[in-house]
Amino acid sequence: MGAAPRRQPRLVARWWRGYWSQDDALVWLAVHGGRRLPKMPSPNSKPLEARVAVVTGASSGIGEATALALAERGAKLVIAARRGDRLERLRDRLQATTEVDAVVVDVADADSCRSFVDRVLEKHSMVHVLVNNAGLARGFANVVDSDEADWREMLEANVMGLMRMTRLFLPVMIASGQGDIVHVGSVAGLDPYEKGAAYCASKAAVEAFAKSLRLELLGTGIRELVIEPGMVETEFSDVRFHGDADRAKQVYRGLKPLSAADVAECIAFAVSLPAHVSIHTMQVMPTAQAAATRTHREPA
Ligand SMILES: NC(=O)c1ccc[n+]([C@@H]2O[C@H](COP(=O)([O-])OP(=O)(O)OC[C@H]3O[C@@H](n4cnc5c(N)ncnc54)[C@H](OP(=O)(O)O)[C@@H]3O)[C@@H](O)[C@H]2O)c1
Repeated sequence: MGAAPRRQPRLVARWWRGYWSQDDALVWLAVHGGRRLPKMPSPNSKPLEARVAVVTGASSGIGEATALALAERGAKLVIAARRGDRLERLRDRLQATTEVDAVVVDVADADSCRSFVDRVLEKHSMVHVLVNNAGLARGFANVVDSDEADWREMLEANVMGLMRMTRLFLPVMIASGQGDIVHVGSVAGLDPYEKGAAYCASKAAVEAFAKSLRLELLGTGIRELVIEPGMVETEFSDVRFHGDADRAKQVYRGLKPLSAADVAECIAFAVSLPAHVSIHTMQVMPTAQAAATRTHREPA
């Protein structure tokens, strides 16, 4: 009679030990005994609070999504591009979240850039984050058949625009001993493909420019990131094919490309890291893309 109640707990304990590993027990403790564990500091949900971020090419695609991602993290924004109506719509959308200025600029035009930078610095006196995103691919043709006007448009925006904006904002960043410069490059700058020679060359120039500048910036406290996306579904292909929407759609046929928000998250992550952590390059690809021209597509 007396032995039965003693056997019962031992049996339960053996079953309990077999059923539960040490890891399970720790998980249980973490969930149910949480109140007795030391409190972890909560991560800062607004790591960019009080920072001023300039995003070029914010009227669509990656630039627009980056503005949204940085605003979510508390940054004050200056959104810039040529299409003012688009910028105003984005500003209206963001105004409940943060302070936003929408300023028209053509990065391919030196005077436009200079007055843009003067206006930004007059209001904010400092820029903490510069996202050099404005850019485009125009045309898809062998070199021998290419249009020089397309080449010029790409090189003026993707290379001259990016270098010019960087140079104009550098003095305030250097003076303040901090800052983030983000260049939106492309996998095309590392892995050139046929019929895109001038675009690939423009993005290769971004890589070389950034590498050289990073050496000059050593000791200034300024971080410089080149993000190199693969296929991102934005207005990019519409622009490349001069508004031929059907042709643009074919680019993403049978695969899941990156979204603009995917790239924006990567940018926001990099600039939210502690000041002593600097990501130099970030190659971000759709899982279905192994190299610029190597993709896996599901049949229709
Ligand atoms: N989509 C992709 O697959 C992909 C992949 C790798 C890299 N990228 C790069 O990502 C960046 C953004 O492209 P996206 O894909 O987001 O294409 P998108 O939707 O066409 O956006 C391009 C942005 O750049 C702006 N822009 C173009 N020329 C400009 C100029 N001269 N001055 C000021 N703004 C200008 C456009 O605004 P306005 O027309 O209003 O001026 C627009 O806001 C580009 O640098 C592109 O090369 C894209």
